Amino acid sequence: MPIDNSLVREAKSVIDDNQTPQAPTGTHDLMPPESARWESLLGLFANLSHRYSFGLVHTPMFEDVRVFQRGIGEVSEVVSKEMYEFTDRGGRHYALRPEGTASIVRAFVQHRPTTPFRAWYATPSFRYERPQAGRYRQHHQVGVEVLGSDDADIDVEVIALAQRFFEGLGLKSFTLSLNSMGDGACRPQYVEMLRSFLAEHQADLCEEHAKVYAINPLRVLDCKKDACQEVTEKGPFLEDVLCGECHDHLARVEEGLRQEGISFIRSPRLVRGFDYYTRTTFEFASDALEGAQNAIGGGGRYDGLVESLGGPPTPGIGFGIGIERVLLACDAEGVFVVESLPPVAFVVDATGGDQARRITASLRAFGISVDRAYDQRSMKAQFKAADRSGAALALVVGDDELASNSVTVRPLRTQDEQITITLEELFERVRKTGRIL
Ligand code: HAM
Repeated sequence: MPIDNSLVREAKSVIDDNQTPQAPTGTHDLMPPESARWESLLGLFANLSHRYSFGLVHTPMFEDVRVFQRGIGEVSEVVSKEMYEFTDRGGRHYALRPEGTASIVRAFVQHRPTTPFRAWYATPSFRYERPQAGRYRQHHQVGVEVLGSDDADIDVEVIALAQRFFEGLGLKSFTLSLNSMGDGACRPQYVEMLRSFLAEHQADLCEEHAKVYAINPLRVLDCKKDACQEVTEKGPFLEDVLCGECHDHLARVEEGLRQEGISFIRSPRLVRGFDYYTRTTFEFASDALEGAQNAIGGGGRYDGLVESLGGPPTPGIGFGIGIERVLLACDAEGVFVVESLPPVAFVVDATGGDQARRITASLRAFGISVDRAYDQRSMKAQFKAADRSGAALALVVGDDELASNSVTVRPLRTQDEQITITLEELFERVRKTGRIL
């Protein structure tokens, strides 16, 4: 049975048009040397996550479509317009993950780990958006989620982790916006106020929201069109009707951030794109990136999400950081320049390759990064490859070295003298010092 989804259709049309297959529109291949940066970024995030006591969680790339419909909200843009949905050969209705939170919560409800449950993740996410610089149909996020406590100190820790990550990359020009979405006690009252207000200004809203504002009025606050922004600027603000508990919670988050030395701006319009948020919401925007694609990360509290996916009442909070976006911000600021590491040594073997095989295997076993030439190429071609590899040393085996079971170590990047040593001596030296020279 053919899978009817736009991802497959698009990939197919690319193949038909160009003969040679291309990555689908809005996606990209990650190749060396750029991938070295990703490795480094992921290492940095993993390290920080461990420091904050988070454990890695991997969930499937696709889920029953209802996980996202119930979790994120059916009227949100992401679910109603951007999800990659498909029916599998067994007739099950699935969707590729558009974001990380709903899947982690589904896994939490399924496995019921002890709380507070602290998960970190690195994941591709799929959204059928209009591709442009900084906006892709497959993007990648690193993120964390904490389930099982509504203590404001956790909000502070989660925001601090994101802040320390950006700082660790070397970023300086970014702004943290903070808001509270209220809770079950105060938000319904606010939503009603907003609905009545929008009804009075229906004619001035953008075409889409003039029709659908009543279903979820909060989405209008998130609309980027001038018409809606002009209306909502004059509208009621949630902060004016926050209940006492939400007010105190927000005050404690603010106090904690100040104590951590993290500056932020209060942003009463920040509602973010998902329906699951309650209380704390936040977003980091790069000041070095232009326009609408400047959000490098965002998150918030979602104290009702576990219940909406069938679990017991359990508060939660987390964030997602867009890897591509954050690297664009690094480019714009000229920071986090990562060179891919060349091998330490390159084996040049003019005697058939047996010695090359032995030397590379032994050195790799000792933890040294080594490359070699293949296909019994000429010495000249092998030296050229050695030079191109960026290795500091060539380990040369000619007839003399083969006869004496030795190797000539020739520095490729300095004027230092070359030396010839037996393989036994070489391996002993590496075993003792971890170095060839
Ligand atoms: P989000 O704001 O939709 O939140 O995405 C998080 C980050 O992913 C954004 O700030 C942005 O950097 C990046 N991003 C989003 N869409 C794209 C795209 N099409 N192309 C490139 N980058 C993109 C979430 O996904 C929530 N799950 C965050 C969260 C976790 N809230 C609570 N826990």
